[in-house]
Amino acid sequence: MTDVSASPDASSGKTSSFGFRDVDATEKVRMVRGVFDSVASSYDLMNDLMSGGVHRLWKDAAAAKLNPRPGETILDVAGGTGDMARRYARMARAAQTRRGGPGPSNPDASVIVLDYNAEMIMAGVAKGGEPEMQWSVGDAMALPLPDASIDAYSISFGIRNVADIPQALREARRVMKPGGRFLCLEFSRPTASAIRKAYDAWSFHAIPRIGGWVAGDRASYQYLVESIRRFPDPSTFKSMIEDARFSRVAVTNLSGGVAAIHHGWAI
Ligand SMILES: C[S@@+](CC[C@H](N)C(=O)[O-])C[C@H]1O[C@@H](n2cnc3c(N)ncnc32)[C@H](O)[C@@H]1O
Repeated sequence: MTDVSASPDASSGKTSSFGFRDVDATEKVRMVRGVFDSVASSYDLMNDLMSGGVHRLWKDAAAAKLNPRPGETILDVAGGTGDMARRYARMARAAQTRRGGPGPSNPDASVIVLDYNAEMIMAGVAKGGEPEMQWSVGDAMALPLPDASIDAYSISFGIRNVADIPQALREARRVMKPGGRFLCLEFSRPTASAIRKAYDAWSFHAIPRIGGWVAGDRASYQYLVESIRRFPDPSTFKSMIEDARFSRVAVTNLSGGVAAIHHGWAI
């Protein structure tokens, strides 16, 4: 697949949240890009430090729910350094092996990692990939893919960074084959007040400090923490996915609602 760097509409006139601030939507695109340019080289280490490694379990749970299969084309949008895509590639290959190995009736999967930030993609390429993986620079709001070309779409900790979420969901639906699966893994709202208090203390006080020490960029981690609070609650986000014409949309809470998986079908 050719690398494509798609640009969002520069004259949208819409506002979008950047952490606790509201900014012009095109300005948000530029600012979020700056955040991930800055944190790309320390991104994976920071994920482990911020979550105590728990993000790996959330990603395992999300990949199991997506259930990658041989022969499928799987698109991981805002794929960053390829954490989800590596899981999908290995799982599809394991299923292929269980079915007797590669062959005309049991072809390899194809897993596309798409991110609009070349720094994140380059950090992922440096980490190494799997044979099924392809890396691509492109925008969730203007996917460089034909209609009805994807069996499964995923976006992990990416959608809250997108300036126009309904547009990204419409694009997801456009590229999905009939019967395709949609999955979004994102931070959410802890359901119990005790978890909420501990989580607020950790995220507002510790995470920006750790970001300052490890990534040399406290402000970017302050944005990440604030962006989680501005993201719609699970039932509002579920309705947004339904508005984009996905069916049978369901929510699975993880770690008491600290994160959640939204999944649905293009039927
Ligand atoms: C928090 S990282 C998540 C990376 C990876 N999915 C993971 O779970 O580790 C968010 C990613 O979203 C990307 N991103 C933000 N807005 C985007 C957009 N409009 N299109 C494509 N990627 C975008 C950023 O460049 C960044 O790599």
